[in-house]
Amino acid sequence: MAGSPTKQDLIWRSVQELAINGDKPPARYIFCDGDGEQIDGSPPLFPVPVIDVSLITSSTSQSSKEDEELEKLQSALSSCGCFQAVGHGISSSFLDKVREVAKLFFELPTEEKQKYSRAVDELQGYGTDQVLSEHQILDWSDRMFLGVHPEDQRKLKLWPENPRAFREVLHEFTANIKFISEILLKAMARSLKLEENCFLNQFGEQSTMIARFNYYPHCARPDLVLGVKPHADGSGITILLQDREVEGLQLLENDRWVRVPIIPDALFVNVGDQVQIMSNGIFKSPVHRVVTNSERERITLAVFYMPQKEKEIGPEDGLIDEKRPRLFKKVKNYADIYFQYYQAGKRPIDAAKI
Ligand code: OGA
Ligand code: NI
Repeated sequence: MAGSPTKQDLIWRSVQELAINGDKPPARYIFCDGDGEQIDGSPPLFPVPVIDVSLITSSTSQSSKEDEELEKLQSALSSCGCFQAVGHGISSSFLDKVREVAKLFFELPTEEKQKYSRAVDELQGYGTDQVLSEHQILDWSDRMFLGVHPEDQRKLKLWPENPRAFREVLHEFTANIKFISEILLKAMARSLKLEENCFLNQFGEQSTMIARFNYYPHCARPDLVLGVKPHADGSGITILLQDREVEGLQLLENDRWVRVPIIPDALFVNVGDQVQIMSNGIFKSPVHRVVTNSERERITLAVFYMPQKEKEIGPEDGLIDEKRPRLFKKVKNYADIYFQYYQAGKRPIDAAKI
């Protein structure tokens, strides 16, 4: 089609298609140019703490091994705000199956994928970075966003039927992730000497779980674009299945970017803003970003576990005293606040600060 592209064209042109010709990325994707700070694809590797989930599942049989692991968990979440979970019970072959259905989906022809397109004002479905303003710098990635919990609110017409196993695999994987998330939230409470259900109670009966498949095509100029701009997650906790081979995730640690290593069978877990609030700031919601590379695509699956909509959340009473005054207000519908602040280029958690 002749003429300059309309806004609609910009929205629907996938980054996957843009990447095919191997040209320099269009201006709207350039995060920094030439003399600005260049995007460093290989800063130092950060030794993200490794936590064995199988050691922290039981609240009854207190063992010294468990205490030790809980202490490690507490220390990880209060420092870098994340860890690599091993011993989580999901088999290596099933993790690969999840990666496989994701890969097969993104390999489908454009028209096939667009059957599941996100409507302009919706969050769920297949699409690119949501275009919120003319001046926004766009992420070098395509994504598939699907609500998985509560189950009766799933928008199944957006769930791919191709590849055949997609729905079943996503269902099974996220059921496992929910189970693991609940174990982790209990362990996190115990690690702070709190009643083990206190965080989970704040999530409520109708807690929300959203799956986001991220597709990062290779890019001719990885020094100029970001797969995902710097952000902290608005979730309670996030569980990320990384690509088995291709790195890209970076964390902001003491004002420096560091690389998150790949442990193929581990799940990368990070605190989101809402658990930072519930823990009265003891657990940190880390700022992170994704870089691309010039050779290989990268596919990840992030699962965001969030409190029930409309439910008020706030710092646990047991974590407030003279030495540590209350740092956050009670908030409701944090997802909406998050969106407004993010859109304005502000850090969303500041909205909840006292
Ligand atoms: C996210 C995210 C990291 C990755 O989806 O919020 O930070 O490595 N993803 O894909
Ligand atoms: Ni994130």
